[in-house]
Amino acid sequence: AGKSYEYIKVSTPRTGVGMIELHRPKALNALFTPLMLELNAAFKAFDKDPSIGAMVLTGSHKAFAAGADIKEMSTKTFAEAYGDDFIESWSELPNTVKKPVISAVNGHALGGGCELAMMCDILYCSEKANFGQPEVKLGIIPGAGGSQRLTRAIGKSKAMELILTGKTFSGQNAYDWGLAARVFETAEQCVDAALETAETIAGYSHIAVKACKEVVNKSQDLGVREGVEFERRVFHGLFGSEDQTIGMTAFAEKKKAQWTHR
Ligand code: HXC
Repeated sequence: AGKSYEYIKVSTPRTGVGMIELHRPKALNALFTPLMLELNAAFKAFDKDPSIGAMVLTGSHKAFAAGADIKEMSTKTFAEAYGDDFIESWSELPNTVKKPVISAVNGHALGGGCELAMMCDILYCSEKANFGQPEVKLGIIPGAGGSQRLTRAIGKSKAMELILTGKTFSGQNAYDWGLAARVFETAEQCVDAALETAETIAGYSHIAVKACKEVVNKSQDLGVREGVEFERRVFHGLFGSEDQTIGMTAFAEKKKAQWTHR
């Protein structure tokens, strides 16, 4: 925080919470390289900042992000896309940070915008949010994880239908199908709730929170047995933290834990 950016706004609206707002209003927050570089930098800065425990990523009421920048992509050749590994640096963005990121999605979340929202650890949205993977209409396919994350979240048949037709779906649909953790009537309520959840998370031991994120994410890559084994190893590791002693002692003494985050 404190740093100024051109295409995003960063702030710390609540204790322990870093907020990033996508801010390229002229293009409905279309994701292009300069914006993604700033987003990367802001995520990394909050991740390193010991006063921050969780992050919220949002856009405007009109658009979370209307996709990757079609004008930037339109002249790209295969050699450029493949040779420079186009979007490799941002296809895993919120997963490259250890602290949790909550997306608060209002308005359009299309193509790369939908993918960015799905990369976040928790997704909140408003009823009228407009999600979709419309890449097929442009003669391409989702390129930042959409075909994988949407399919895992809502099942193959629905994801296939959406990706093949490019049809959009509402925030209410996203909630009903299990893509969103919560849905809200208004954009304000959505952002407030995301900040509140982030504040709750930031109030816990940052060590424990990072470990929670890591083990839940592992469930997306491993089978149940390997996943449970991985979880147990990380669980064992937490007994090496100061915060494990602090948390358990505070419980026994009926006091509030004073975390050291070590
Ligand atoms: C570049 C975009 C853009 C985009 C909107 N704009 N989306 N520019 N890339 N993805 C620009 C418009 O060109 C326009 O600029 C301004 O933002 C306002 O948009 P309008 O279209 O005038 O607004 P509206 O009529 O309200 O329609 C909103 C919309 C529409 C339905 C969201 O903009 C739209 O369909 N956008 C494209 C959505 C899309 O196809 N996304 C997927 C992209 S592919 P001017 O200069 O005319 O005012 C993708 C691939 C991901 O994301 C692969 C890996 C990341």
